Amino acid sequence: RLFSAIVPAAGIGSRMGQSIPKQYLSLGDQCILAHTLDALLAHPAITQIVVALNPQDADFATLPQSHDPRVVTTTGGAERADSVLAGLQLVSQDWVLVHDAARPCLTRHDLDKLMTHAQQNEQGAILATPVRDTMKRANEQQQILHTEERQHLWHALTPQLFPRQALLQALQEAQGPITDEASAMEQTGYPVKLIQGCASNIKVTQAEDLALAEFYLRQQHR
Ligand code: C5P
Repeated sequence: RLFSAIVPAAGIGSRMGQSIPKQYLSLGDQCILAHTLDALLAHPAITQIVVALNPQDADFATLPQSHDPRVVTTTGGAERADSVLAGLQLVSQDWVLVHDAARPCLTRHDLDKLMTHAQQNEQGAILATPVRDTMKRANEQQQILHTEERQHLWHALTPQLFPRQALLQALQEAQGPITDEASAMEQTGYPVKLIQGCASNIKVTQAEDLALAEFYLRQQHR
């Protein structure tokens, strides 16, 4: 089976406290987004990558990956879901992976694991890792209300892999803010499987994540 990928990259990454969008911060020899695209481009079953960009984006065209014939761009929207919906308009395959621009450390092994599941079960799935720390629910004043049962809690990562049509419908009908595609699928009652992936598939969110991502990438390329 062949896949399309959508990379929502239209956010401004305000949590990094930098003036340039976080996906363009450098990580070793190239920027975060370039590494993310390389991880997807390296997979022979991915025939197309749709990158949703901010209308003000002036950096993407400078990346060598932007000239790859498999890479196409579109203009993203106000929310992440709008950016993914814009990407879906251009998707050519029946199954689509949505992957965060700021997750450059995705491994081939995890991609294969996710694709194999979708292929064998005809069901959507996402990469995830079990929660390691004890999880507390708090009120607005940061007073602990109670401890969550950790056993069934997972971190939702990306890629998230779904049939194109089902994802399109779920995102169009979704209520409230959507921080990942699986949450839209859940709302429609579509079953989504968690596939355990590497904890090194981090989303570069804060300044200290850059050094960690650089370390993980170096480990992979040894
Ligand atoms: O802010 P957060 O890290 O959750 O954003 C996840 C991804 O969604 C980022 O890659 C960001 O560029 C993308 N995004 C988008 N369009 C928006 C908001 C976020 O493509 N309107």
